[in-house]
Amino acid sequence: ARLVVLVSGSGTNLQALIDASADPAYGARIVAVGADRDGIEGLARAERAGITTFVDRVGDHPSREDWDASLAEQVAAHRPDLVVLAGFMKLTGPAFLARFGGRTVNTHPALSPSFPGMHGPRDALEYGVKVTGATLFVVDAGVDTGPIVAQVAVPVEDDDDPESLHERIKTHERAMLVEWVGRLARKPWTIEGRRIRFQPKDP
Ligand code: GRF
Repeated sequence: ARLVVLVSGSGTNLQALIDASADPAYGARIVAVGADRDGIEGLARAERAGITTFVDRVGDHPSREDWDASLAEQVAAHRPDLVVLAGFMKLTGPAFLARFGGRTVNTHPALSPSFPGMHGPRDALEYGVKVTGATLFVVDAGVDTGPIVAQVAVPVEDDDDPESLHERIKTHERAMLVEWVGRLARKPWTIEGRRIRFQPKDP
């Protein structure tokens, strides 16, 4: 399967996918990495791995809608089977979802439906939960609301701050992402209601 990965930051989730896809048996290869900003470690990781990159900044477009349509075009040019948002800090819009809805996944550093949005680890810590985690989901029009592909639970420690908790979550988040993107790439699947159903390969 062909993957396009979109990033906005350090790209450790991207790196985990780069490393996993070095094995042909993984069943997915990254054909391009896109970003909404320049100068980030995520893009440098892609370049070091010899993967084509592109940048599409919201600020270079007259409107958010224009950016969304442009991003969809740039992604489409690489003909992905699956799009992975790996720390991509922008909401994709209607044009993007019209094209890639149902085959775009994102990770969130909390156990959905708890603590959606930009500050999952901090919000979990402030709420006082003792277990949080990470969620891999199929992107829909909401904020971290789409059908859940996988979740992993991570304990909150008494002396955690938002950064230490986020780092612990990310260790598990990367492993979950690699495992489940591989499954999504290797096996046909559909969405029934909010549930992901894998189909047997030879019906
Ligand atoms: C991940 O925890 C992702 O879920 C969150 O931002 C982090 C990105 O990390 N939204 P990285 O860029 O993959 O290192």
